[in-house]
Amino acid sequence: MKGIVFVELIRMAESVMGEEAVDDILEKAKLENDGAFTAVGNYPCRELLAIVDAIGAELGAPIEALHKQFGHWMFGRFVEGYPVFFEGKNDGFDMLESIEGEVHVEVRKLYPEVELPTFATERLEDGRFKMVYSSERPLQHFCHGLIEACLQHFEHDASIQMTEQKGGGKFCAEFLMQKAV
Ligand code: HEM
Repeated sequence: MKGIVFVELIRMAESVMGEEAVDDILEKAKLENDGAFTAVGNYPCRELLAIVDAIGAELGAPIEALHKQFGHWMFGRFVEGYPVFFEGKNDGFDMLESIEGEVHVEVRKLYPEVELPTFATERLEDGRFKMVYSSERPLQHFCHGLIEACLQHFEHDASIQMTEQKGGGKFCAEFLMQKAV
């Protein structure tokens, strides 16, 4: 997983708890590289999971909520860092539809070593929209945060129903969305 993701997780934690508390957490979490991450490095996803677990333990916060909050934070970074991907998208569903075939394709061209999930999307009756996440990594709650932030970015008042699906050694989740009328 790209170092920038770690750098952003640490920045988010620092904004909530302060630098010293985060340093302590990283020290205690017994990370392979002693918690020194650079934006251009690559690190195992299990290190990210360990950091989120350690933050959760320190704050007494539910891990899933932290992953989701991190999804919101990362979405903000994507909007700032890669505005080109948001151009020409009429709404949040258009944007989400473009992740698998466009955004992540370009991301892979830029950084061939990335580990990305796969998405299947479908427009359903009554304007509902389905997005199915599938990954080797258990980042479905992070994904939930990204999706929620994306719909907020496009100013939709929408519901998102998440259903986790187990099977095939992969982590899968279905997100069913509907805009309020
Ligand atoms: C709302 C839209 C998006 C969704 C739902 C989404 C979803 C995800 C998820 C869930 C991951 C974690 C990897 C995994 O679960 O296997 C991920 C990773 C990533 N995504 Fe996206 N993404 C979105 C938009 C973007 C945008 C706009 C960019 C622009 C650059 C981007 C770049 C990346 C990068 C760089 C990674 C890290 C890959 C790695 O570290 O190996 N994504 N994305």
